[in-house]
Amino acid sequence: MTTGTAISAFAKRLDQTAEDTEALLGKLLSDALLPDEIARPKRLIEAMRYSSLDGGKRLRPFLVVESSAVFGVPREAALLAGAALECIHCYSLIHDDLPAMDNSDLRRGRPTLHKVYDDATAILAGDALLTLAFDIITHDEIHSDANVRLLLTRALARASGVGGMAGGQMLDLAGEGRFGDREPVDVARLQQMKTGALLRYGCIAGAILGQSSQKQYQALDDYGRALGEAFQIADDLLDVEGDAAALGKQTGQDAALGKTTFVTQLGIDGAKQRVRDLLARADSALSIFGAKGDVLRAAARFVSERNS
Ligand code: IPE
Ligand code: IPE
Ligand code: MG
Ligand code: MG
Ligand code: MG
Repeated sequence: MTTGTAISAFAKRLDQTAEDTEALLGKLLSDALLPDEIARPKRLIEAMRYSSLDGGKRLRPFLVVESSAVFGVPREAALLAGAALECIHCYSLIHDDLPAMDNSDLRRGRPTLHKVYDDATAILAGDALLTLAFDIITHDEIHSDANVRLLLTRALARASGVGGMAGGQMLDLAGEGRFGDREPVDVARLQQMKTGALLRYGCIAGAILGQSSQKQYQALDDYGRALGEAFQIADDLLDVEGDAAALGKQTGQDAALGKTTFVTQLGIDGAKQRVRDLLARADSALSIFGAKGDVLRAAARFVSERNS
């Protein structure tokens, strides 16, 4: 496949996954009760829908779907796992935007949840999305083997919690110097945790669902790590050089908050070079999949060249 063909195939598949994820999340976030639920308060379910529907690139579900496709995993199963991951991502954005964290007013081209509702509702919507993700990831339809579902669930917990996204957010805030003296920041580790962990999960989810060999798992793990780091550096570059309208969020926030990023540590050119190196690493990790890795290869290119 030529690079151009692979990129247009990628764009079509990303759109399709976004559409399918939107439909699925719409159903999962309905006001219909699940067995054992008592009531779904209108204000809370509406707040969850506000921050989860009708927006976002849906890159994480896409990674689950495409890493699964490498192993011929049924698309419906991968979409469910992808929806669980997207719920965690949306929760992380709601909390990231709160006044106590990044204090952002705009997200996905709309006012942030706490601006439209209030901080308490935003905290609870985040909590409930996180919990819903763990409900979704245990659905029988994801895999007939309960042990596979267990592995998928545990990996999701590790990507999201103290040793993953939430831990990375802690390091990110500490890196602003807000808890006392500014200590040297290990930016690679911070980013690997706050952003890389969920993106990497999207990549290894296919290997878990497809019951891959260890070598295949390792390849997707390497790919996911490189892609995750490249994604956050691109985000930090966009915060400096991007267009707020295209991004749907404010720019210049990292400098205003005194965040430590690869842009502050390496400069713009150094950060761009690091993204190029990571792209090459992501590419070479996929070599064992041959043409089956083409869409994921295009995804890495998209991540490093994106403007939104
Ligand atoms: C934004 O993620 C938050 C970061 C981890 C940098 P995305 O850029 O994937 O946000 P959406 O989902 O497309 O809005
Ligand atoms: C957010 O990183 C990462 C998570 C939400 C876990 P940023 O704070 O850089 O994301 P944006 O720029 O607000 O989207
Ligand atoms: Mg942040
Ligand atoms: Mg932020
Ligand atoms: Mg950012």
